[in-house]
Amino acid sequence: MGRIKPQEHGKQLTVGEVARRSGVAVSTLHFYETKGLIQSARNQGNQRRYPREVLRRVAIIKVAQRAGIPLASIRDALSVLPQGRTPTAADWKKLSAGWKKDLDDRIAKLIGLRDQLNDCIGCGCLSVKSCPLRNPWDKLSEQGPGPRLLDPT
Ligand code: FES
Repeated sequence: MGRIKPQEHGKQLTVGEVARRSGVAVSTLHFYETKGLIQSARNQGNQRRYPREVLRRVAIIKVAQRAGIPLASIRDALSVLPQGRTPTAADWKKLSAGWKKDLDDRIAKLIGLRDQLNDCIGCGCLSVKSCPLRNPWDKLSEQGPGPRLLDPT
């Protein structure tokens, strides 16, 4: 994204301009719009026009997607920001802190899965009774009653 020229302040962008400046395909921008991540307005010729702040929103969406955050979660997080306001550094700090926790949780689950897989490599039994990958609930039930994990999948 380049520097904003003074004459561009308040300028509405076409979908092609947003695509060019953000590096995101027009079809992806339309997809984001159908999912409620970004919004456009129609001009008098019934063509979509986007406020400039959409560029920062699209940048945030791309970064979050790279971190593996589901689009629905990104939409929920962005929904607290008023449309038409450029997400600020404080907004970003709050959003990214929440996503870092999601990422940490997923990494911890993946490490657990990798360690279980280590035990299974070379075994191949895939036993419903004893294989932790095949039946994590049985293994967890050995630890006592009640929910042992929030998401054993
Ligand atoms: S394959 Fe045997 S314990 Fe998982």
